Amino acid sequence: MRDEQITTGLPGNGVVRKLSRQEMPLLREHLLRLDPESRRDRFNGFADESFIERYAERCCADGTVIVAYIEDGLVTAAAELHPPGVEDDAMPEIAFSVERHVRRKGLGSILFKRLIAEARQKGYASLRITTGAQNDAMRALANKFGAHLTFRHGESTGSINLRKRPVIATLPMFANSADVARAMIGFNREYWKLVLRMYGLGRAA
Ligand SMILES: CC(C)(COP(=O)(O)OP(=O)(O)OC[C@H]1O[C@@H](n2cnc3c(N)ncnc32)[C@H](O)[C@@H]1OP(=O)(O)O)[C@@H](O)C(=O)NCCC(=O)NCCS
Repeated sequence: MRDEQITTGLPGNGVVRKLSRQEMPLLREHLLRLDPESRRDRFNGFADESFIERYAERCCADGTVIVAYIEDGLVTAAAELHPPGVEDDAMPEIAFSVERHVRRKGLGSILFKRLIAEARQKGYASLRITTGAQNDAMRALANKFGAHLTFRHGESTGSINLRKRPVIATLPMFANSADVARAMIGFNREYWKLVLRMYGLGRAA
């Protein structure tokens, strides 16, 4: 996948793009900035500074892909795509963290979409997501992308089948104006097909 950066439409000059290995310290700093509740939600339990230091180092070493929202040189939101382990039924795992001051602006959704594109590019068939049973925000985000979370041992776990086309209620992010134009043409074509069908003039879908 071309490592293009995406502007988000949010106020400010932030962009969404993959982090390079040299930029991985930005992930550590972002995770360390999470307030205690968010940290607990992100790691589904206690995570002190040394845990986060080791965690960020491991992400750097094991080939985890980080798609981040970067504004003024800081990562304030990140999505992680962890490669599958060695077990037979191992699946790649994903995780998200959005700092509180930029939440509920659609960033989690933008990162999710971009992470799915990365996972498809890598040829993964499915993704696993695990979160705390009480984590309504993450459950809402995961449901939006077709994950069916089930509750077990205090955790909600689910998977996303990448072979199916995800049903998403929001508009896609556009990398450039040509993408916008293509999407609008597609939308108009579908709209007119619908109108023609309503008047009995078009083929059935
Ligand atoms: C979960 C999290 C990543 C969501 O990020 P976000 O940028 O706020 O997500 P979005 O703005 O894209 O919202 C996604 C959807 O979830 C919904 N949502 C967000 N927060 C919610 C909440 N607290 N309760 C219920 N729904 C919520 C939104 O309404 C939106 O749905 P919509 O598009 O149908 O309106 C963020 O809350 C977070 O980082 N939490 C702390 C860390 C964490 O819990 N990580 C998950 C463990 S993997």
